[in-house]
Amino acid sequence: MKVSVIGTGYVGLISGVGYASQGHDVICVDVLEEKVAKINAGEPPIHEAGLPERLRQVLDKGNFKATTDITDAIENSDICFISVGTPSAADGSIDLKYIEQASKDLGTALKNKDSYFTIVVKSTVTPGTTEGTVIKNVEAASGKKAGQDFGVCMNPEFLREGKAIEDFDNPDRIVIGRLDEKSSEALKALNKAFTCPVLETPLSTAEMIKYVSNAFLAVKISYANEVAEFCKKIGADPYEVFKGVGMDKRINPAFFNSGLGWGGSCFPKDTKEFAAAAKREGANPRIVDAAIETNKILPSKIVELAGDVSGKTVAVLGLAFKAGTDDVRESQAVEVIKLLNEKGAKIQAYDPEASEVEGLEREETMEKALEGAEICLVLTEWPEFENIPFSGKIIDGRNIVENRENYEGLFW
Ligand code: UDX
Repeated sequence: MKVSVIGTGYVGLISGVGYASQGHDVICVDVLEEKVAKINAGEPPIHEAGLPERLRQVLDKGNFKATTDITDAIENSDICFISVGTPSAADGSIDLKYIEQASKDLGTALKNKDSYFTIVVKSTVTPGTTEGTVIKNVEAASGKKAGQDFGVCMNPEFLREGKAIEDFDNPDRIVIGRLDEKSSEALKALNKAFTCPVLETPLSTAEMIKYVSNAFLAVKISYANEVAEFCKKIGADPYEVFKGVGMDKRINPAFFNSGLGWGGSCFPKDTKEFAAAAKREGANPRIVDAAIETNKILPSKIVELAGDVSGKTVAVLGLAFKAGTDDVRESQAVEVIKLLNEKGAKIQAYDPEASEVEGLEREETMEKALEGAEICLVLTEWPEFENIPFSGKIIDGRNIVENRENYEGLFW
């Protein structure tokens, strides 16, 4: 099929390259010329396992390209994904400016298109946005009627950073929120290579499924962290506790790993918007609110354990919000560093991939970060931190170090 994708961030690029690798013709659109040039030269603008190889493969095959020209992309496709960013505004609610702009641009480009066209919202948007913002803007800019001249679906993504290609290739389910049947048939045809269950719903249900999934996973982590705090007080091992708990098929063992908690570009943003949106509607999201609070205090817990750090050299191992990525967005490590700075510590930080945190120089190696340090904090679960060549005090915030005898865990 002929596919276009607006927005070449994480989700747009992985999906675009993924569909191209299945044999579809894909055009990715972005407003940033530099990014487009890089993608066309085979250089992914993000760090993601397997992406450089897959991008090279589809570029060589010739059925994938990136462009800044949205009109060209719409003219040469029958189905278009909107996968632009939906950042948090200052008050924690979602900022829809890129969604608004993309739907206006798409509508304008659609004006001269004679054939039926399918629009798929892939970005994570508050329930009601596809109907209230996307359809409204596309109709106004194109002069066409949704459900008649063009169809609309909402198709949330569930890609984890660092495992995005694996997740694209092996989805647990495909959720298709739909305005009309013709567009969901087109989206199902595009996804025919996948064997997982497909759930068709109204548009706002699909939007809701994405938020509720991420909020529930965040709640699981915060629950594990609350339990872990209790466990430490009585000398029980929380990881063994959750091993036993997770053996119950009704519960499942995933996302019970206690430690410094969640960060990244999705959980913080999605939980905040879920709670804010629920409140705007007069509902009371007590559980998600509590999960957010529990997550917020974790950085101060590890700093408390470190004791008096004033004037001391502290080795910080790990900056990324999780292992397998260079992403430091909303990383708990960044919060820990802020607190250490406030307490007057001298920080020597190392991360195998993560880009620099503002105002902080990254050491070249783990050994350099440890040189002359009095204490070491492990903030990201990179495998190379399993064995740390250090004789001082180590506090493990991610349950990664192998030899527990010499270390202290945040929760053991
Ligand atoms: C998440 C969702 O998993 C994905 O489906 C969604 O579409 C995007 O958001 P991602 O942000 O890449 O993906 O990270 P994920 O692997 O889910 O981890 C999120 C955070 O939770 C990380 O900071 C991780 O360290 C933390 N985490 C995860 C825990 O603290 N404990 C766990 O048991 C699992």
